[in-house]
Amino acid sequence: MTGSNTISDENQLANFMQRIEAGEKIEADDWMPEDYRQTLIKLISMHGMSEIMGALPEKEWVPKAPSLYRKLGIMAKVQDEMGHGQLLLRVTEDLLEPYGKNRGDLMQDLFNGDLKFHNVFHMETKSWADAGIIGWLVDGAAIITQTNMLKASYGPYARALQRICAEEVFHAQHGESIIMALTEGTDQQKAMIQESLNRWWEALLMFFGPASKETTGSSKQDLTIRYKIRTKTNEEFRQLFFDKYIPRILSLGLTIPDPTMHFDKENQMWSYKQPDWNEFKKIIKNQGPRSEARLNLRRQSYEYNSWVRDALSHSVR
Ligand SMILES: [Fe+2]
Ligand SMILES: [Fe+2]
Repeated sequence: MTGSNTISDENQLANFMQRIEAGEKIEADDWMPEDYRQTLIKLISMHGMSEIMGALPEKEWVPKAPSLYRKLGIMAKVQDEMGHGQLLLRVTEDLLEPYGKNRGDLMQDLFNGDLKFHNVFHMETKSWADAGIIGWLVDGAAIITQTNMLKASYGPYARALQRICAEEVFHAQHGESIIMALTEGTDQQKAMIQESLNRWWEALLMFFGPASKETTGSSKQDLTIRYKIRTKTNEEFRQLFFDKYIPRILSLGLTIPDPTMHFDKENQMWSYKQPDWNEFKKIIKNQGPRSEARLNLRRQSYEYNSWVRDALSHSVR
């Protein structure tokens, strides 16, 4: 009977919300409302795919890193990021079960443009300083958003983030170490960092996403907060990033490429020039400077390695 189903659904939802409010973890086999499942799938698959696509810009610098020590460092980071991606796609796979989809389908979604990856990983890495800026500030930005979700209501994601965040801290230190070495170097090396920061600044601001619902056209932020997946809005994350990194950037003698940037004492927040949000929309629709090349590389490697997936699926049987 439809009536009793509705009552039962309402009870399940009330019970689910009670568990969330009490700080309990929701597990993969537990009942969950459809919009919770959909929100998690979108969030975690995008996070996982961004880890994989994010390894590519740095991979380009493995052969060009200036010493064996730096090559080993950046290679270990690339390997970690691929591991984060695999871990997160596995978490997503459990959520996809009711739809009969698996991680192979997620990869196809990436290739056909249905699954997006972070704006920063569509950008070019033109100099060695870019490898430093990515580790220091992109991983630094990721640490801000990901540590906020360590207590996420969905248990498998929260547990995966424990390991990921621990490794991200190493990545940020690796990036900081590259930047510190360059700031202590020649004028040319110092200029290289400033040039890199200037190029990456807008992308770093975009990383946290637009501030308001008016810009995003969705209430995704509200939903993730209501379901206790995260506790802060995009703008709150961006402000935390400014609080942490602006003093550090300035202390190295670098300048912020935004003359309007200042701390607004009255509102107790940083005031800054908005990045071009139309450009952001284009980038995440795979129209960024390196979107196509990186997707092609991923597609090629996925096809080339299909024999490994075949061998694994046969050995399980
Ligand atoms: Fe990562
Ligand atoms: Fe990382």
